[in-house]
Amino acid sequence: IPIIVIDKVEHAIPLAEILLKSGFKVLEITLRTACALAAIEKISAAFPEAIVGAGTVVDTKQFSQIKSAGAKFAVSPGLNKTLVLEAEKHNIPYLPGVATSSEALLAHQLKLKTLKFYPAESMGGIKTLRALAEVLPLHFCPTGGINADNLLSYLSLPYVCCVGGSWIAPRKLIAKASFAEIASHAKLAQTILKNAFN
Ligand code: 3PG
Repeated sequence: IPIIVIDKVEHAIPLAEILLKSGFKVLEITLRTACALAAIEKISAAFPEAIVGAGTVVDTKQFSQIKSAGAKFAVSPGLNKTLVLEAEKHNIPYLPGVATSSEALLAHQLKLKTLKFYPAESMGGIKTLRALAEVLPLHFCPTGGINADNLLSYLSLPYVCCVGGSWIAPRKLIAKASFAEIASHAKLAQTILKNAFN
């Protein structure tokens, strides 16, 4: 999943077009900028085949905003019971983040099955993830430090269902409208995935 930070709404459509053409179907637009909701709305309307989600959801009121904008899923950096209940209320697939065994245990108690493991590499990477997955029946989407070199090591784990990262479309390249460079990252990622899984 490309994790995207959009500073200018006019970059939303050209960026989504490149990523979808390269083979990505799921895009996460983080709510870290003023135009994030508008970007979700534009991409969802222009590319109904795309599964566009909202990342960096940190406030209950954002669930109704992202749903109105067309988001199909929500992601948070951490775990918070109020946010989990709000996601349920809005009936939107939700990936809260966990990084420790206590957080993973709380997620399990809240009946969650799939979580973001964040920030993956800083929190010990695969070693930590393995330890969490060994003791609880959970699946994970690791993000934070995932790149072309390590994505397959994560994806080969049975309890990893997907990975996310900003390296495919880094904020700096989007801000400079360096779409050709983003397209080459996207192509590299897709080649790695196709060689491993097709
Ligand atoms: C996230 O929201 O999960 C992170 O911003 C992604 O981390 P990365 O920039 O290291 O890929």
